[in-house]
Amino acid sequence: MNLTSSKHDMDFLRTLTVLYAEDDEEVREALAHYLRRRFAKVEVATNGREGLAAFKAQPADVVITDIKMPEMDGLEMAKAIKALAADVPVIVITAYNEIDYFVRAIEIGVDRYVKKPVNPEELIDAIGKGTQTRFQERELERANRQLLESMQHTIAALARAIEMRDPYTDGHQKRVSQLAVEIAKDLGLSEQQITGIRLGGLIHDIGKISVPLELLTTPRKLTATEFDLIKIHARAGGDILGDIQFPWPIAQMVVQHHERLDGSGYPAGLKGEDILPEAKIIMVADVTEAMSAHRPYRAALGPDKAIQELRAGRGIMYDADAVDACLRVLERGDFTL
Ligand SMILES: [Fe+2]
Ligand SMILES: [Fe+2]
Repeated sequence: MNLTSSKHDMDFLRTLTVLYAEDDEEVREALAHYLRRRFAKVEVATNGREGLAAFKAQPADVVITDIKMPEMDGLEMAKAIKALAADVPVIVITAYNEIDYFVRAIEIGVDRYVKKPVNPEELIDAIGKGTQTRFQERELERANRQLLESMQHTIAALARAIEMRDPYTDGHQKRVSQLAVEIAKDLGLSEQQITGIRLGGLIHDIGKISVPLELLTTPRKLTATEFDLIKIHARAGGDILGDIQFPWPIAQMVVQHHERLDGSGYPAGLKGEDILPEAKIIMVADVTEAMSAHRPYRAALGPDKAIQELRAGRGIMYDADAVDACLRVLERGDFTL
């Protein structure tokens, strides 16, 4: 593959910074002029010592160097730069009669050679090849980022779908997600886990789509049988999401958000360590938000009642660390009930 052939690759080269060392002023000015039109930044040096100092001050993405230069030759500079940053590609410009230098160059780990007089296209090609790994890494990162973004958008769309159908819990999932994220941050969870919790929280009640709407909106207290029907939503949520391969355990978070540490929850009656840490956090956020908010069948119980419930269930039904973190979050005002 010729890396310099496609427009995209040229765009990539345009993001790179170059350090170019050459003692011959005429050659240096001409090539630097050419390079400046193709790269983000081109730093020039008139000898190896200058080049090394420039690299130390501001490491370049690519180093291009002549060999024979006063004060410090190109290979000595290359060696020092490789010791500082082994993965920075170094391209050496050589003349045929500099063949003795090749052994040294190989030892140093010089990446590519371009013959004198320099054919600029050949040089660009060498830079393209020298930076291929970095180019592929950036492409992979970009693809991953896109994938994560589309997953997040898909989850947000699912969240909107459930909230459009059931206006009484409108905003509930969003608020549970926000509170759960604050709890997770307080507990010092990783960025990756926090993202998972944010997304899991956003759709934790997605299974309510399978519950008759009258039950979700009825303005009276539910019978035990009706309440059993509502309970289906936890398992149903897991079924809806089960086959999607998210980089986070979203389906388990959703299925487990009504489990309780003492096994009194549903759908599986899981206990303690069998419950996912993320689900333990979402459950605390869910209980807190649900109790303090208005429901069709009852008025809001208020923040005090929610906090009372958390304290009473701490370490029994709800994870003690998650409860403590939730209380700290509320105390600090990072989330308002
Ligand atoms: Fe729920
Ligand atoms: Fe909920």
